Amino acid sequence: MMRIDAILSRFGYCSRREAALWVKRGRVTVQGVPVKSATVKVNPAELMVDGEPVEFVNGLYIALNKPLGCTCSHKEQGELVYDLLPQHWLNRSGGVSTVGRLDKETSGLLLLTDDGAFVHALTSPKRHVPKVYEFETSAPIPAEAVALFASGEFMLQGETTPCLPAQLSITAPCAGTLTLHEGRYHQVRRMLAAVGAPVVVLTRTAIGPLRLADLNLAPGEWAEIDPALFS
Ligand code: URA
Repeated sequence: MMRIDAILSRFGYCSRREAALWVKRGRVTVQGVPVKSATVKVNPAELMVDGEPVEFVNGLYIALNKPLGCTCSHKEQGELVYDLLPQHWLNRSGGVSTVGRLDKETSGLLLLTDDGAFVHALTSPKRHVPKVYEFETSAPIPAEAVALFASGEFMLQGETTPCLPAQLSITAPCAGTLTLHEGRYHQVRRMLAAVGAPVVVLTRTAIGPLRLADLNLAPGEWAEIDPALFS
């Protein structure tokens, strides 16, 4: 049970102070009945705002089909992935962040959450959650890259530890998929560039058991996901 003003501010709808006004205007109800005071304690799962349940009372877990051209950052100039989300999600007291990042010019499956432990669990180097990328290149992909990337001995320029074994599948002379079990800076682009096949189109299609194709999302659309999928 939580005070109504605390619920509305915790989940990003308005400040505690504004909550009294929202209540006065009849915007806040429990079982269809307008609540009388913003200081009353209720179950957050039963509270409705403008006729809609308070969203994600057990944590916000979202899969977004990231469009090209937006950045996974709270700070940078230009369009941000966060601009695609409702403002009250961003106002939640935990904030919202991406689980790892995709480059500005990479599209596809991106997870967002207000649960720091979930971010940590999925991005921890110990977890090795597989991520699948589909790509096109501007030059043919050499067949030897399959064994090289799988070897666990492939070194990226400027790094001191080899990449974990990665599964490359060449689906056309200039196209393929790469499954990574880690997330280094610009990893797919750097790996392909190192074998003479610069990436020109890049999309992430899966993270662990979650596949973008199963979610049916147009670029810029999102869906709620069950975090237990990754436990
Ligand atoms: N590898 C890249 O090069 N870019 C991404 O966005 C993700 C993986």
